[in-house]
Amino acid sequence: MKNIAILGSTGSIGKNTLNVVETHKDAFKVVALAANKDVGTLEQQIRKFRPRLAALNDLDAANCLRERLRDCEGIEILSGNAGIQAVATIDEADQVLDGMGGSAGLLPTFAAINAGKDIAFVNKEVMVMCGALVLEAVRRNGVSLIPIDGEMSAIFQCLEGARDKPADIHRLLLTASGGPFRDTPKENLYKVTPQQALRHPNWEMGAKITIDSATMMNKGLEVIEAKWLFDIELDKIDIVVHRESIVHSMVEWTDGSTLAQLGPTDMRIMIQYALTYPNRLSTPAPRLDLRESRTLHFEPVDREKFPCISLAYTAAEVGGTLPVVLSSADEVVVDAFLNETIGFMDIPAVLQCVMDKHEVIADPTLEDILEVDKWAKSTALSIINAQR
Ligand SMILES: NC(=O)c1ccc[n+]([C@@H]2O[C@H](COP(=O)([O-])OP(=O)(O)OC[C@H]3O[C@@H](n4cnc5c(N)ncnc54)[C@H](OP(=O)(O)O)[C@@H]3O)[C@@H](O)[C@H]2O)c1
Repeated sequence: MKNIAILGSTGSIGKNTLNVVETHKDAFKVVALAANKDVGTLEQQIRKFRPRLAALNDLDAANCLRERLRDCEGIEILSGNAGIQAVATIDEADQVLDGMGGSAGLLPTFAAINAGKDIAFVNKEVMVMCGALVLEAVRRNGVSLIPIDGEMSAIFQCLEGARDKPADIHRLLLTASGGPFRDTPKENLYKVTPQQALRHPNWEMGAKITIDSATMMNKGLEVIEAKWLFDIELDKIDIVVHRESIVHSMVEWTDGSTLAQLGPTDMRIMIQYALTYPNRLSTPAPRLDLRESRTLHFEPVDREKFPCISLAYTAAEVGGTLPVVLSSADEVVVDAFLNETIGFMDIPAVLQCVMDKHEVIADPTLEDILEVDKWAKSTALSIINAQR
């Protein structure tokens, strides 16, 4: 039996994780849950999974949850940053699943690692912002970090048995569905609405990552994530558009052989693998039947149509705090697009402006990163406000 704590339990990854736990009640027990402010969903989850501890970041929401759970014994409800960190570091947890997303997950991630917890990791923004510091903390504390993000899990699986042979890798190929606008001409992208951008052709995910998929910033962030996770040079990471999302990513070896990981578009498989690694269990996910007539397409990515990809490569090449700026400002511009304050093609334009204004710190400390996170968000906001 493995005890797990889930950060972001009310989100898309969190709900899928609880589905995995429910499927394998004899293998996993939930000991703590954390979310931002979704009282209703967290209440249902607590009644069903009976964790010892739960936390909501929002104070009023946490008070409301306490009221609603008056009849529930043996559960402690906390709030704010301290509450989320208590979930991340709870004694009973063997593994913490970090499904919060965004810079909000940064301090809880470090808290969990420093508390000696193994990490099932999906928060790409944290890896983009401070990959070097996360990996250093993982090494120092002797914990494991198993990726869940589809492409990272695919590469992690392809590298099984070859993790100590980085010189054998010719390149990593990250597959991208291309998002809802892969067939939309660039000139039409200026007018697309949040509703259109939220209609992902292959995956059901939270709003932020769905918009990032539409701009293809998601793939750009993954390039930076892969650089850290697999300790590989940027010029050995390529993107290939694969509209079916069946091949989740590939490793091409020096001898010309390519290994791919295939599967249905169901995050439960990746989540479960991060919890059972190096073992496997059955899942209720649909199975991939290649006997059905299927055609798999692979195409180069159009960087001119999706400028966020080049912004991400630039941030990764320059390094230091520039990836922090990219990721933190992206959280603000995506919100502004969802609120219809800016247009779809303003997303890369505002990001470029914020990046241009930044004075890069080459080897940032965690404190530097937290400062730059604030700076990038407020600078993005002032650029957006100045445009209104
Ligand atoms: N969804 C996918 O299939 C998928 C695939 C690959 C990678 N990822 C990555 O996984 C991460 C999560 O994505 P998602 O799609 O699951 O997002 P989501 O559906 O928006 O869920 C975010 C979760 O984090 C919680 N949260 C947000 N801010 C918080 C805060 N300040 N304190 C505590 N909890 C907070 C939310 O709580 P409330 O519900 O209360 O707001 C929610 O539970 C992202 O980094 C994304 O890139 C997701």
